[in-house]
Amino acid sequence: DKGNHRHFMAKEIHEQPEVVGRTIAHYVDLAAGRIKMPAELDVDFRKVNRLVISACGTAYYAGLVARYWFERLARLPVEIDVASEFRYRETPLFETDLALFISQSGETADTLASLRYARASGAKVLSVVNVPTSTIARESTAVLPTLAGPEIGVASTKAFTCQLAVLLALAIAAGRARGTLSERDEEGLVSALVSVPGLMAEALKSEPEIEGLARELSKARDVLYLGRGMAYPLALEGALKLKEISYIHAEGYAAGELKHGPIALIDETVPVIVLAPNDAVFEKTVSNMQEVAARGGRIILVGEENAAREAAVDTMATIAMPAMNPIIAPMVYAVPAQLIAYHTALFMGKDVDQPRNLAKSVTVE
Ligand code: M6R
Repeated sequence: DKGNHRHFMAKEIHEQPEVVGRTIAHYVDLAAGRIKMPAELDVDFRKVNRLVISACGTAYYAGLVARYWFERLARLPVEIDVASEFRYRETPLFETDLALFISQSGETADTLASLRYARASGAKVLSVVNVPTSTIARESTAVLPTLAGPEIGVASTKAFTCQLAVLLALAIAAGRARGTLSERDEEGLVSALVSVPGLMAEALKSEPEIEGLARELSKARDVLYLGRGMAYPLALEGALKLKEISYIHAEGYAAGELKHGPIALIDETVPVIVLAPNDAVFEKTVSNMQEVAARGGRIILVGEENAAREAAVDTMATIAMPAMNPIIAPMVYAVPAQLIAYHTALFMGKDVDQPRNLAKSVTVE
């Protein structure tokens, strides 16, 4: 049931404040201001030397975001790869590793094969899944559910942001266990986490502006997405969403990589979408934006209002995000990234819920 939305994808984008809120509530003891993990998560993070993450597509990008959280908050080294590579790499795994798999469907063939490889190596296997009865859930040592509800649109939206919510909660729990976060740190992070649904609702208000960009974007042959830090995997996710449903070629790049090649592509025909939360690398992203502007690139800046004003770069458009603790920005900035893809594809008359050549669940390799 699409409710009063035209597509499942629109419904799923719009229900994110609710389902992300529900997911967060599952992992937070609100009264205590603390994270609570399911009892079956029998992991002593002090004894974990490395977190090994594997997944496909959007779930892989959630893992890439989580790498920043686990390294920063828990000082836990993270190794991550797409499951189609991981399963054949013959990568050494050790008893002190913790293996983590992320999947909406819980049936993705490559992710499942990677999980079986990790199990066979004797690693503890943890999974973040949306379908609790799935094969990946069944074969895991412990399951951390996302409570996104059924996701019908082939382009993943709400599953992604719910995965991020679970992963941030887990990184906070790991940081507490490893002593890299104090009780006060935890309280601060928990209050940032619980502010996410409200901020996502704010971010959804940028929809009319984004809709207004669809005509321009629909004319593009290539679109570049740039971000630094946690906005880098988000740039990859934004580009994937646009490719999947509009069939416009899009690429996500770490903003700092621009001058190592992709800047050669920039001219007035290439829209450059810059995801720039107000974080420690914001200034760096701004200088990359200036490099794009100097070459005639047409910038769509997604960032906080003040920050965007201070950046003083010529943009084609600015999508204003509310002010927030940058640690939670990936969940909030996912919303405009999804809406950009949705409205561009819609304007182009594409079948946004069932894009060509794609299946919701990839159960063969
Ligand atoms: O069900 P899974 O999360 O394991 O699926 C992984 C990918 O196939 C999936 O995220 C795919 O990339 C989506 N079409 C992205 O929108």
